[in-house]
Formats: sequence, C-alpha cells, structure tokens
Amino acid sequence: MHTGVCDRLGIEFPIFAFSHCRDVVAAVTNAGGFGVLGAVAHTPGSLEAELAWIDEQVRGKPYGVDLLLPVNFAETGAETGARARPFPAEHLAFVEDLLTRYGVPELPEHLRAPAGSLSVSPQAALPLLDVAFGHPIRLVASALGPPPPDLVRRAKDRGIVVAALVGTAEHARRQQAAGVDLIVAQGTEAGGHTGTISTMVLVPEVVRAVSPTPVLAAGGIVTGAQVAAAMALGAQGVWCGSVWLTTEEAETDPTVQQKMLAATSADTVRSRSLTGKPARMLRSAWTDEWESEAAPAPLPMPLQTMLTAPAQQRINRYAGTAGSGAYQLATYYVGQGVGLMDRVRPARQVVEQMVTDYLAVAERFAAQLDA
Ligand SMILES: Cc1cc2nc3c(=O)[nH]c(=O)nc-3n(C[C@H](O)[C@H](O)[C@H](O)COP(=O)(O)O)c2cc1C
Repeated sequence: MHTGVCDRLGIEFPIFAFSHCRDVVAAVTNAGGFGVLGAVAHTPGSLEAELAWIDEQVRGKPYGVDLLLPVNFAETGAETGARARPFPAEHLAFVEDLLTRYGVPELPEHLRAPAGSLSVSPQAALPLLDVAFGHPIRLVASALGPPPPDLVRRAKDRGIVVAALVGTAEHARRQQAAGVDLIVAQGTEAGGHTGTISTMVLVPEVVRAVSPTPVLAAGGIVTGAQVAAAMALGAQGVWCGSVWLTTEEAETDPTVQQKMLAATSADTVRSRSLTGKPARMLRSAWTDEWESEAAPAPLPMPLQTMLTAPAQQRINRYAGTAGSGAYQLATYYVGQGVGLMDRVRPARQVVEQMVTDYLAVAERFAAQLDA
C-alpha cells in the first residue's frame, strides 16, 4: 500500500479521513492514516482549540485542514459588517410552512441561535488559514474551485502540501495550473458537494490529465477492496468522508446515524436544499419537499445555508422520536457508500479493516497470476 504520497506526508497507509470531528481526525492519524479536519463551520477561536487538542493527541504525527473556498458565492452583506440581506419572503414562508406541516416544535428561546454563516468566502476563510498555519499541519485542502494564489504561496513557503477536490478532469487541470500538489478526484458517489461523474471513470481520467501530480480517489470508498480498486485505477491513495460518520468517534446526530446504518446505496440524493450547490445527502422528507413543485429554487451559496440552518437545528433537536415529522425530515450529507456502512466501529478499526481487506485482494491477484 506504500505510495509516493506516504513518503511525502510521512504516513504508513495512504488512507485519508475527511471529518468535521477532531476525534476522528486524531484516531485516523494515530492509526497510520491521515486525518483532515473540515474547518468550514469554525470560528478562528474554535479552530485554534480543536487544532491544539489534535496536536496533543497525535504528538507530531501528520494531519491536515480543509477549507471550503468556493470561487462562486453570493455576497451576503455580512462580509462588510453590514446587516445581512433579508431572505426572500417566498423562501422564508416555504421553510416555515414545511416545519409547521411536519409539526416540528419551536426551539426553546435559549437555544435559538441567530442565522449563522459558514466561513466559505475568501475573506471569512483567511483568519482560519492564519490559525491553521500556526499549527504543525502537513496539508491544506480546498474544494469548490482553485485555491487563492496567496494560500498556495503561504503553504509552499512552509512545506505544506496543497490538496484540492475535483469532480472533472478539466477542473483537475485548472487545479494543477494553480499549483496544487495533490488532486482528490471525487466521484458523484461522494457525500457532500459532488459532481456527476462516477469514481470509476473520473479517477483514471484525472490521473491521465494531471500525471505526474499524485491523485487520491474519493467517492463511495468504504472497504479495502474498493481501496485496491482505487489503486488499480492509478490513485496513490483514498480520501474518505462518509465511512467515518458511523464510527464511535463521530459526532453524528444519533437519529441520523441510525438512518445511515439502515440506509441502502439507493437512499441518497444530490440536492441543493442545504447549501445552494448540489450536495449528496440522505434522501428524506426534507429533500423531497425541496424537489416538489411548490418549492422555490434554492438560494446561491452561502445564503441557502443561512436560510436553512435554523430549520435544521430545529429538526435535529426533535428528530429523536421515531416516526415524528422531525424524524422524517432529518437528513445529513452522506455518499452512496452508506449502503456498505452497517455497524458502528472505532475509526482505527475502519483503517485496519481497509488494510487487511486490501492485502487479501492483492494476495488474490498474486495467486491468480501464479496460477
Ligand atoms: C458530512 C460530509 C461533509 C463534507 N464536507 C466537506 C467540506 O466541508 N469540504 C470538503 O472539501 N469536502 C467535504 N466533504 C467531502 C469529503 O471531503 C470527501 O471528498 C467525500 O466524503 C468522499 O466521498 P465519500 O463520502 O463517499 O467517502 C464532506 C463529506 C461529508 C460526508
């Protein structure tokens, strides 16, 4: 399983874990893989605390940070310190009506947070980068377009690997031209923001487009046999997100985690209902309602998230009662690999199982050659 990427980052196994949960990041790094903390929902202060905790847990072993830096995003008004622009009345009414029809109670006063923003604009992400560069990170990743030149320059000055997620070969070429060191070819199977091309087709296409720049395969990878398949396609490792959501360390909402364990690979959908950009998530009454004729077109990023975050908070608060309206609406980002996620395990065990199963496939191939 040892590839050039292992040497470059000082890791035993080229198994990358994208997670918003610091415990998953530390557990995978400590198991010989490479944990990457999703920083998008953090403030500089909370990111500082998370990275300090990870430093303590991994004691010099390598890990990275991921920022969502969309090239195209809507101005919200909040960037300049001005009052955020109000949402269209049609959108507010649709969300309110949806929650009423499904009988989702109001949140208690003390839990009502003001509609939040995500750090998805370059202005908002810069302070997060400053925090990340203050820690011994070995990789910084970005999604939704080429990273700003300043990020690339600052990372390279510090010997930090710059990675980027892509969904087409054309995007991969653009990332390479922007100075990215490591391309993550993410197929449509993936959880979160995703394109339309399958991992099986995308990985060899991207490898061909950017060789000798190393490529990691992402999208739908849950088992060691799939890791072997990814390596056979020319990838130097795998980048997984969904599989960690049902680990012991994950902070996945318990109701959503139960839904994931029960879901088949047919139970996800690409929907713009949470962020305004197509993202794969569990199909639920929420995604169905946003597909209905009565639904308005989702707002551009990050306005859709700002619109729907308070509703999501309400839904998650009351989703624990099986069969309730909130239960039916509950959803979260997850990929088609959810059909292979059928039990809760420690993250270390996921890494170890991937390695064991990968070796079994390699031995099977070797035996077939001998025969
Ligand atoms: C819950 C969740 C949230 C995600 N959020 C981000 C993100 O903020 N930034 C990012 O670059 N990728 C994000 N992704 C995509 C992952 O980095 C990864 O490419 C993807 O999960 C791989 O496919 P898989 O889900 O089939 O393993 C997210 C994925 C999931 C499942």
